Amino acid sequence: MKYHRVVVSRHGGPDVLQAVEEDCPEPRTGEVRVKVLTAGVSAYDLMFRRSGLLPGTPRVPFTLGADIVGVVDKLGEEVATVEPGQMVAGATFCRGGLGGYAEFVCLPASDLVPVPSGVDPAEAVCVVVNYLTAHMAMHRTANVRSGERILVHGAAGGVGTALLQLGKLAGLEMYGTASRYNHELVSTLGATPIDYRTEDFVKRIRDLTKGEALTSDGVDAVFDPIGGARQLWRSNRALHKGGRLVWFGVAATKKKGLRIIPLTLLMVTLLMLMPDGKRALSTPDLGKDNAWYRETLTELLDLLAEGKIKPVVAERIPLAEAARTHDLLERGRYAGKVVLVASA
Ligand SMILES: NC(=O)c1ccc[n+]([C@@H]2O[C@H](COP(=O)([O-])OP(=O)(O)OC[C@H]3O[C@@H](n4cnc5c(N)ncnc54)[C@H](OP(=O)(O)O)[C@@H]3O)[C@@H](O)[C@H]2O)c1
Repeated sequence: MKYHRVVVSRHGGPDVLQAVEEDCPEPRTGEVRVKVLTAGVSAYDLMFRRSGLLPGTPRVPFTLGADIVGVVDKLGEEVATVEPGQMVAGATFCRGGLGGYAEFVCLPASDLVPVPSGVDPAEAVCVVVNYLTAHMAMHRTANVRSGERILVHGAAGGVGTALLQLGKLAGLEMYGTASRYNHELVSTLGATPIDYRTEDFVKRIRDLTKGEALTSDGVDAVFDPIGGARQLWRSNRALHKGGRLVWFGVAATKKKGLRIIPLTLLMVTLLMLMPDGKRALSTPDLGKDNAWYRETLTELLDLLAEGKIKPVVAERIPLAEAARTHDLLERGRYAGKVVLVASA
């Protein structure tokens, strides 16, 4: 049987994404072949496409795509946890791979969890990486408590909207940075929007959280997926004493290139060592602890089925038009997550 997948044929612009036809992969022992219904497109995908310098980039040609939802098509030997025809969701990177931009993908059964019936596969795929990341940052790294005040950067993005929805469920008071055109969405999700392009977010946070004592100004936790030395320094300044800064990404590569990564790591280390009564933290790999991954993803998909979370799907684009998704992400002015859907 033949299938199509989209490969990064060489590093470069969105046009390097090309569909190829190949023999369909066979699941090995412990693996499941999934017929992909939806695949997530993320900011990371752009970094892997643009350059081979990012640690962990596979050799060309390779297939992008960190998260999928699909239907179990064929079981490898020794798989008893899922059945053919069942809808499942999973991340592709748990064992160091990618591969979601495809009609079929083979993944370890242990990385797949069942999707409750009635759930939209495009919304479900948003839950995999974005909500797992948000959950990890909020509940495992920052350990937020009801009533705390948080600042979410990139609040209208895929992970940002997930953080706001989980933050609302956790009873947090929230502030979110976003471009002006995304402020209505940020407000709808329960946060006070701050325009990072025209406002000083440190000053805005200090003003918005002004307390009796000068030392109490600031938030309890900042979630920063933007990165860069200056950005992280300022995020730290938006915390009051005892606050936590959770860093989990480098969206700033869009403008500044990969050199931002070592500068970011240097600043994170400096903030970790600085005796200022605040804590700088980074999130561990999502796929490191399979028990946590399975349990949390199942819990999040149940929240979706119950209507307690509602992922923001920026756009649904057919797999055959994968290059268009990257064009869209490069242009910006979207909110939530861009999703590839199986071509009819
Ligand atoms: N550690 C992990 O496990 C993990 C997993 C997933 C993602 N991540 C990280 O999280 C980052 C966000 O991922 P995503 O999929 O949510 O990306 P995304 O959907 O592209 O969202 C990022 C948003 O950030 C906003 N933005 C850009 N520069 C900003 C700035 N200086 N200040 C505030 N907001 C800014 C933009 O919003 P506006 O349009 O409103 O300007 C953009 O929509 C990625 O870059 C990645 O590094 C980490």
